[in-house]
Amino acid sequence: MRFGTHEIDRPLCLAPMDDISDPPFRRICKEQGADVAYTEFANCEALVRNVTKMLRKIAIKEEERPIGIQIYGSSEENMERAAAMAQEAQPDFIDINCGCWVKKIANRGDGAGLLRDLKKFEAVVRAVLKGTTLPVTVKTRLGWDTNSIVILDVARMLQDLGIQALTVHFRTRQQGYTGQADWSWIPRIKEVCQIPLIANGDIKTAQDAETCFNLGADGVMIGRGAIHSPWIFRHTRHYLNTGELLPELSLEERVDMCLRHLFSQAEYRGVPRGVVSFRKHYAGYLKSAPNIAHLRCELMQYEQVEPIVERLNRFLEEYHAGRLMDE
Ligand SMILES: Cc1cc2nc3c(=O)[nH]c(=O)nc-3n(C[C@H](O)[C@H](O)[C@H](O)COP(=O)(O)O)c2cc1C
Repeated sequence: MRFGTHEIDRPLCLAPMDDISDPPFRRICKEQGADVAYTEFANCEALVRNVTKMLRKIAIKEEERPIGIQIYGSSEENMERAAAMAQEAQPDFIDINCGCWVKKIANRGDGAGLLRDLKKFEAVVRAVLKGTTLPVTVKTRLGWDTNSIVILDVARMLQDLGIQALTVHFRTRQQGYTGQADWSWIPRIKEVCQIPLIANGDIKTAQDAETCFNLGADGVMIGRGAIHSPWIFRHTRHYLNTGELLPELSLEERVDMCLRHLFSQAEYRGVPRGVVSFRKHYAGYLKSAPNIAHLRCELMQYEQVEPIVERLNRFLEEYHAGRLMDE
């Protein structure tokens, strides 16, 4: 599959995740084998108004390539201008979010709201294509609800418009995150269009990724599975190449990665903001460690980096001394 000038076979993509897939998390996932990353979504209105927070979201670094900037909105004029602004940040491609299910976004016609009005969907994609000379990709869902699954029409339309790749989260907007992502749509979509298809939704293991590739996906995109285990990309690539499953990471390796991520988050967002916003990552890094609930409660209290380093080192010492018991 092509991402700008980068050709990648069976790419493993880190999903765009607001408030999660920021530069520090992207760096960790890249180091752990993610082939492609996306920025957190950036609202087109805020971009064209030069809102600092949005401009920061689309800032990327050379070592992150290949990377896409994701934008969303339903105003054609602002989407065209936002695409031009995104191009100035020099990503490898621009991704349009047509799948966000959050009420305040989808109900005003942005994100998954576009699935209720395919004429508008098409106009927004055309506007983005007009605003940029970079490759444009689209990320969407199956449809608004089970009675209005439109993904096959959407796939055909995007192919005709010249979209470079299509990512589908195999749920409807109405489903949110309930039920199971329905990967059986992969061959059905591949039957009606030739553009590369990136499968998304509930890919949590190397075997899940393999199943999606076997069903015909050209790439896979991993979101929550990467929050729980950023090393999922490295493990998946190893499995796809060798058929062998790597062992789970040791507690030392997890703590080491957790701290490196924390340091980089603290540097990126400053202290205490970076330390506080890092709290959502402890569950993943420390998953299945003994006495984790107690430890997590303690870590949640800290707003500085040093006590966290001290506490995690003490935790490792206690673990090795056999002083921790399973809950
Ligand atoms: C915290 C969070 C934030 C998200 N933010 C975005 C976003 O900015 N853009 C987007 O296209 N999808 C966003 N998503 C959806 C994910 O990209 C992905 O489609 C979804 O989580 C399903 O994949 P998964 O089962 O691998 O998590 C977000 C998901 C989560 C959990």
